[in-house]
Amino acid sequence: MGMHEATAQSAQTAAATLTERNPGERNTVVLQVNHLKKIYPIERGFLRRKAGEVRAVDDVTFTIRAGETVSLVGESGCGKTTTARCIVRAVEPTGGEILYHTMDGAVMDLAKLSMSEIRPLRRGIQMVFQDPFSSLNPRMTIFEIVSEPMRVNNIGTRGEREDRVADLLRRVGLRAEYMQRFPHAFSGGQRQRIGIARALAASPRLIVADEPVSALDVSVQAQVLNLMMDLQDDLGLSYLFVSHDLSVVNQISTSVLVMYVGRVAEIGPPKALFAAPKHPYTAALISSLPKPDPFARGERAIPQGEVANPANPPPGCYFHPRCPYAIDVCRTAAPPLEEVGPGRYAACHRWREIELTV
Ligand SMILES: Nc1ncnc2c1ncn2[C@@H]1O[C@H](COP(=O)(O)OP(=O)(O)OP(=O)(O)O)[C@@H](O)[C@H]1O
Ligand code: SF4
Ligand SMILES: [Mg+2]
Repeated sequence: MGMHEATAQSAQTAAATLTERNPGERNTVVLQVNHLKKIYPIERGFLRRKAGEVRAVDDVTFTIRAGETVSLVGESGCGKTTTARCIVRAVEPTGGEILYHTMDGAVMDLAKLSMSEIRPLRRGIQMVFQDPFSSLNPRMTIFEIVSEPMRVNNIGTRGEREDRVADLLRRVGLRAEYMQRFPHAFSGGQRQRIGIARALAASPRLIVADEPVSALDVSVQAQVLNLMMDLQDDLGLSYLFVSHDLSVVNQISTSVLVMYVGRVAEIGPPKALFAAPKHPYTAALISSLPKPDPFARGERAIPQGEVANPANPPPGCYFHPRCPYAIDVCRTAAPPLEEVGPGRYAACHRWREIELTV
């Protein structure tokens, strides 16, 4: 970026306070993921010969609109983190499209762009990590950490960055003076607030948050989630939120995407999806939670039976070895993702005929 461009941007940033970027943007598409795949080779021996592959993400499709939260749920190893990391291009996808709709109406496929082409788009998509202890560099001050996305993107002068970091810290419930301290001085909840301030620094449109509260004490989880929800309302942010906690997902999501062995089992608005699932795997997840309060906080849903191995998935529907409704076709043909209701999609051959209870 040239010098005068940087100056023009700094003037813009100085004017831009922590208000919604563009209220008219609500409901427009921000991200459209089509048939995303990430396949890792398994290499063996001294010559690192390819001995197989892990289908970590194996055909994932969803859309996020401005101001919406899409949550990814599913058992450990189903590909939630890999999906999230493909979107921020910390992982290079094997196939599919990640269509990012920029503010000026252009559509860029993040799956196909080179790293240097992606860099200017990075501002728009930021990540909040699971572990607030390892994700903040212990040798950097809070000012350096929070202002990093601004520095990387040449936004603002040093003085403007200080003002903005002070605003950001206050906005996430911390004192502006903290910017001179180092991460070790802070609790887990405070560190995650710092991580959120950093994610906000470059005025993103989409925040990808991979289990952002699961490393925190239960008592502070709700505070950090409430902060994220307030910020979403105030700033019109979109979230891709990874979680294993169905009670949290039920409360915060516009749409829930249930993954099984790298594939979409079901997507839909949480109230409808949890009350009347259309996919047997969604029903199994809900049924595995303790009764009478299936949505007790923090419970991890683990249905009966073994998860299929993503290095050697079964033919047909990946869920068929565990599915009480499996019939012959399920063992041979992968079910397509079909529209099963308003804003709802499921990948099950038998969604029309089976009556699922939870
Ligand atoms: N770098 C890698 N190389 C090979 N396999 C990988 C790699 N990263 C992830 N995997 C595999 O891909 C699959 C999906 O992993 P991923 O971390 O995305 O799952 P997850 O849904 O986030 O799980 P968890 O709930 O435990 O966080 C797993 O089988 C995992 O072992
Ligand atoms: S396609 Fe068949 S095996 Fe798969 S979830 Fe539906 S009924 Fe079960
Ligand atoms: Mg994960």
